[in-house]
Amino acid sequence: MSRSLTPARPRREARPSTPEDRTPALRAYGLCKRYRLGDETIEALVDLELSVYPGEFVAVMGPSGSGKSTLLHLLGLLDEADAGEIELSGQRTAGLSDDALTKLRRERLGFVFQGFELIPNLSARENILLPAEVAGRGREAEKALGPLARALGIHERLSHRPAQLSGGQQQRVALARALINDPVVILADEPTGNLDSATGEEVLALLQRGVREQGWTVVMVTHDAKAALHADRIIFLRDGRIVGETRTADGGARAAIERFVGV
Ligand SMILES: Nc1ncnc2c1ncn2[C@@H]1O[C@H](COP(=O)(O)OP(=O)(O)O)[C@@H](O)[C@H]1O
Ligand SMILES: [Mg+2]
Repeated sequence: MSRSLTPARPRREARPSTPEDRTPALRAYGLCKRYRLGDETIEALVDLELSVYPGEFVAVMGPSGSGKSTLLHLLGLLDEADAGEIELSGQRTAGLSDDALTKLRRERLGFVFQGFELIPNLSARENILLPAEVAGRGREAEKALGPLARALGIHERLSHRPAQLSGGQQQRVALARALINDPVVILADEPTGNLDSATGEEVLALLQRGVREQGWTVVMVTHDAKAALHADRIIFLRDGRIVGETRTADGGARAAIERFVGV
């Protein structure tokens, strides 16, 4: 890797006219990840460049094994790249200690998983507040909880445990948990993968509305074309590389999905 790790960063926040004038919420550059399996080396990500701007909803599509989960793990600071770097709101992350990365993850990132990953013996309220308490901002979060729960349609379910909630309600609780610390970006891995299509559609509509009305920033991995079409932009991965990109507002997105993913 000869790529410089200190490229010039845009410093023109004063007059953000186009997205590119702004500091990306999330920026990956020169990202490489290899896995070694015996004698074999798998290039899971190859020199990947991606900028996600504040208020953008980006879907990542690609066939199985194309590197989607690896990318989401690296963007989520859950795993270390072999080369390249992630910046969060212009803040570099290379070389940070595990403690500093954990703090960044807690305070700046929200995660939503296919399997919800709620703690079964905690109520919805306790699940949602947990990341805030861990980050030492429980008081603030308690104030934010009411409006957030109402916006997500779970305000009447806050004392329920996960098992007492439908799948769609559980995913909305997980979304509230991801949002409670007002993250720079929400990283979602197949968030509708365990939901029936009507319930999945509700969760996607909530994500889309949050992006449009609340300025959330979302990166969502999905293999579902209908889910991806809720995003503003879809990027296509193959063999660890971005091989295509489409804006859903441009029309042509369905054709692009068909061409790059074949679904
Ligand atoms: N822990 C691992 N050890 C070895 N190979 C891995 C590991 N994780 C992923 N891979 C390989 O890296 C490539 C990308 O995997 P992954 O990011 O999981 O793709 P996707 O999520 O798109 O299915 C695949 O070839 C996969 O087999
Ligand atoms: Mg995967």
